[in-house]
Parts: sequence; C-alpha cells; structure tokens
Amino acid sequence: MTLPYEVKNERRKENEVDKIFIDRWSPRAISNKDFTEKDLMTLFEAARWTASSSNIQPWRFLYAMHGTKDFDKYFDFLMEFNQMWTKNAGALIVLISKNNTANKEGKEVPDPMHSFSAGSALTSFLLQARIKNLVAHGMGGFDKDKAKKELNIPNDYTVEAMIAVGTQGNIEDLPERMQKSEKPNQRKPLKEIIMKGSFKKGWR
Ligand SMILES: Cc1cc2nc3c(=O)[nH]c(=O)nc-3n(C[C@H](O)[C@H](O)[C@H](O)COP(=O)(O)O)c2cc1C
Repeated sequence: MTLPYEVKNERRKENEVDKIFIDRWSPRAISNKDFTEKDLMTLFEAARWTASSSNIQPWRFLYAMHGTKDFDKYFDFLMEFNQMWTKNAGALIVLISKNNTANKEGKEVPDPMHSFSAGSALTSFLLQARIKNLVAHGMGGFDKDKAKKELNIPNDYTVEAMIAVGTQGNIEDLPERMQKSEKPNQRKPLKEIIMKGSFKKGWR
C-alpha cells in the first residue's frame, strides 16, 4: 500500500520558501476512512481567515459527507474523469461566491473581485489540508449549471469549483493511468512568471 505523501517529492525550489508550498500537491488517491466532519471544519476555518477585497468574504461552501444522499447528488455533477477517483472521498464540496455585496447604504452592488477572493479561499483550504496530512483536490471538471439548479443556488452567486477531500488513499487502487501521475508535478521557472517593471515585448 503506497500513500500519496510517501511518494518522493522531486520539486526543487529556486529560492527560500516554507516547505508547505513545495509539499502541497493534489493527490487522487483519496479515502473516507477515518475522515470526520471535524477535520473538514478545520479546513473551512482556514478558508474563513483568507484575505478578500474589502473583507467581503464572498466565498460559500456547500458540502456533503461520504455515504449520504447529498454525496451521491454532488457526485453526479462531476465529469466522468473526476468520478473515476472521487467515489471514495470523505466529502465533496461545491465552492460558490456571492457576486454582490451590500454597500454602506445597504444597497447591493457588484463585488468585481468575488471569484478572485473565492480562489484565494480555496488555496487556504488546500494548504491546511496538507498541514493535516489530508488530501484535498480542487476540480473545475463538473456541470456548474446542474449544481446550481439542484442545490437551489440563487442567481446572484457564481458556482466556482468543487473539492474532493479525505484521508490518503492507496495509490494502487487508482485506475492505472492515474497511478503514473500520482506524484508532485513541476512548475514554470520563476523567470517565466515574474518581470521587473513593465510587461516586456516577447514575454509570454
Ligand atoms: C480551480 C482548479 C480546478 C481543477 N480541476 C481539476 C479537475 O477537474 N480534475 C482534476 O483531476 N484536477 C483538477 N485540478 C488539479 C490541478 O490539475 C492541479 O492543482 C495542478 O496540476 C497543479 O498540481 P498540484 O495541485 O498537485 O500542485 C484543479 C485545480 C484547481 C486549482
């Protein structure tokens, strides 16, 4: 039995950085064994303290625990590829964000940063999962319209992403094609993603 975080991490940092940023990755070998709602609350707590534009906190998390009718409902939103590895997850989550916010006069006005802030909350959630040796994996591969309709999500919310979360599963239990990629992947070199001053011609 091989657990994801036992796999050799071949990521190499270019600069000093806390270990957690290199150690966090998105395994697909996921299990509901010993995963509790209390574990999940710790991850939501991390997300709760994320920075957001004007501290609006537009993120909302809908969730379903493994073995419930809601879990099966959430599972049906997922694309086939994601269904192949999430069926044993401890919980499935739908991350949504509120498009508007009340201004000082109590009038609803657009929050142009709502998706950006929700994405930041996802990162806090994922990092906290790794700190607790849990598996958390973000997913864009699902039917957002179906999720919106079946979960009665009002129109002034955007369906952003789903998350599978649980304890570490056995890599050998994954479909063969997924076993090969079950390890920390690499990143672009820093020189490709930073530029001092203005955007220079030829930069991609
Ligand atoms: C918003 C978002 C959507 C993603 N969608 C999927 C998905 O539908 N299926 C999947 O297997 N992985 C998905 N991933 C995982 C990414 O492929 C993964 O984060 C990326 O390859 C970087 O690898 P790492 O998270 O292991 O560092 C998603 C990640 C994010 C943040």
